[in-house]
Amino acid sequence: MKTPITVSITGAAGQIGYALLFRIASGFVFGPDQPVNLRLIEIEPGLPALNGVMMELDDCAFPLLNEVIGTADLDEGFKDANWCLLVGSVPRKAGMERADLLGINGKIFTGQGQAIARNAAKDVRVLVVGNPCNTNALIAMNNAAGVPADRFFAMTRLDENRAKSQLARKAGVHQSKVTNLCIWGNHSATQYPDFTNARIDGRPVTEVITDREWLEGEFITTVQQRGAAVIKARGLSSAASAANAALDTVKSLITPTPEGDWHSVAVCSDGSYGIEKGIMASMPIRTRGDGTWEVVQGVPVNDFSQGRIDLTIAELLEEREAVKDLIPA
Ligand code: NAD
Ligand code: LMR
Repeated sequence: MKTPITVSITGAAGQIGYALLFRIASGFVFGPDQPVNLRLIEIEPGLPALNGVMMELDDCAFPLLNEVIGTADLDEGFKDANWCLLVGSVPRKAGMERADLLGINGKIFTGQGQAIARNAAKDVRVLVVGNPCNTNALIAMNNAAGVPADRFFAMTRLDENRAKSQLARKAGVHQSKVTNLCIWGNHSATQYPDFTNARIDGRPVTEVITDREWLEGEFITTVQQRGAAVIKARGLSSAASAANAALDTVKSLITPTPEGDWHSVAVCSDGSYGIEKGIMASMPIRTRGDGTWEVVQGVPVNDFSQGRIDLTIAELLEEREAVKDLIPA
């Protein structure tokens, strides 16, 4: 029997938490022979609901679920964590941009970054889902003294999945045929879903979908605005698809990336593609499945793409400026 892996999840009683926990406990993410400990973190008012979720976890009798702890104490919550999924934070409502949440949510991530540094396992990895996720991840990373920057990620996989579905629908093919889709920059309305390098069945998307006006216009805006469209339709922000994307992200980071492909996740920029060092920007990533990852180099960036990337990076720099008080010098 393998040693259990410990996964800490904040906001565990929320919508995304509810769609996330049971799939992790079932073995879907870490595999059918990997036992899992869950450390579920909520704020005090969320603890009664969390208790109900824990009752439901009990009621599943999952063979791989080793231990479940529910707590509002960050030290207990992040103890020995190998993976931290930082979901807990307030979602936006209709009419808001994600950056409007910075003032409300940003400060959550200082204490969480510090508690991760104090308590988590040496190999800890942190995926931030709570919005605005890139800048919240930047705050957590900068407050987690001693934890290497390459352990922090912010989620843009939902945007990648959305973009793949839109392209597949337009081309009349199954979404599994779409590869090499990179989301550049921020998980926000400035993100750039890069159709210029995406492929359908191995062919450039621009050869399969010749409607350039659609690619440069409606396609991009649909992906950028999809979160808002779901909020408008559901009255609540996306949850099952967000949880699914979080699980896709973790799986992609622990599994070798298929030859020639890449996946999207925001990482701490090393200056690749001229993106300012130290900000959390989404870019094309490959992994060997051994805990390391690299930015895919040499992806062509034409003038159109560069203009879009510049816009979304400028927004990330503005967000960093807005939270500079939460980032230790
Ligand atoms: P929700 O309101 O249903 O749940 C959030 C939970 O977090 C609540 O149970 C709340 O009690 C808890 N919480 C709040 N502050 C906390 C703290 N400091 N520590 C621990 N728990 C805390 O919200 P949701 O729909 O699950 O969404 C959660 C976040 O994920 C939102 O910020 C949302 O915008 C974001 N989100 C991101 C993406 C993405 O693609 N990156 C996609 C969807 C949603
Ligand atoms: C999403 O993209 O669905 C989430 O970030 C929620 C939101 O506020 O759009």
